[in-house]
Amino acid sequence: MSGPHIRGRAIRPKSQAELETMRHAGKIHARTVARLREAIEAGVTTADLDRIAEAAIREAGAEPSFKGYRGYPATICASVNDVVVHGIPSEMELLHDGDILAVDLGVEWEGYHADGAFTVGVGEIDDESRRLIDVTRAALDAALVQVRPGNTIRDIAQAVQGHVEAAGFSVVRALVGHGIGAALHEPPQVPNFVDGSGGVYGVELVPGLTVAIEPMVNAGAFDVVQDADGWKVRTRDGSRSAHFEHTVAVTADGCRTLTAP
Ligand code: MF3
Ligand code: CO
Repeated sequence: MSGPHIRGRAIRPKSQAELETMRHAGKIHARTVARLREAIEAGVTTADLDRIAEAAIREAGAEPSFKGYRGYPATICASVNDVVVHGIPSEMELLHDGDILAVDLGVEWEGYHADGAFTVGVGEIDDESRRLIDVTRAALDAALVQVRPGNTIRDIAQAVQGHVEAAGFSVVRALVGHGIGAALHEPPQVPNFVDGSGGVYGVELVPGLTVAIEPMVNAGAFDVVQDADGWKVRTRDGSRSAHFEHTVAVTADGCRTLTAP
């Protein structure tokens, strides 16, 4: 079979029209992120942030991708300190000086999705937390450099893992990035670590392929545990975790970041 495929099934690259629709979703995503960044400070609740994000998305005529997805109840995931991903916003959850907060959100515009996440410190944060955030963002940047025709999913995984482990942190194994388009999650999976050579690692990056690349990085060990609420994922050792994500398209000569400002 020619072209990218996984387990005998073709992965269809997006048309130019589909890519422009996704870019529009991505612009709304970026504007929502900018509003959230301004609002994040000690004393704000994660429910406040959820309202800000939902209003920004709906004012733009779009819809939150996550709300209702597999029963998820909110617009954003707000993951504080040792929460890796999928923290449900709450009126009871106040941000405090020294916390780190990862915000993940999806925007649906005319049936297509843009997905992205960022992590910030609240007020003054300790040096290790600062380094964790910087290393995770740089790991995503290192992955974006690998996005070009001729490379494979393995190049993305290797770039993230290499960057993170050289800094002494660990890459979460239990959760991965993904293809994206008319569905929030499409094939191929996009792991942030290399494990073997078959399966998804050989999937070729061809122009029009759209993926959400999302390193999740723990300050301690990579093991995670599922919280009793059925959503929240925490580090097993209680160490802090950071998360960055962009939705990108493979172009003729590289990478277009659809969720870029
Ligand atoms: N952003 C998550 C992802 O990257 C999806 C969150 S799941 C949801 O795949 F249920 F919260 F939507
Ligand atoms: Co995602």
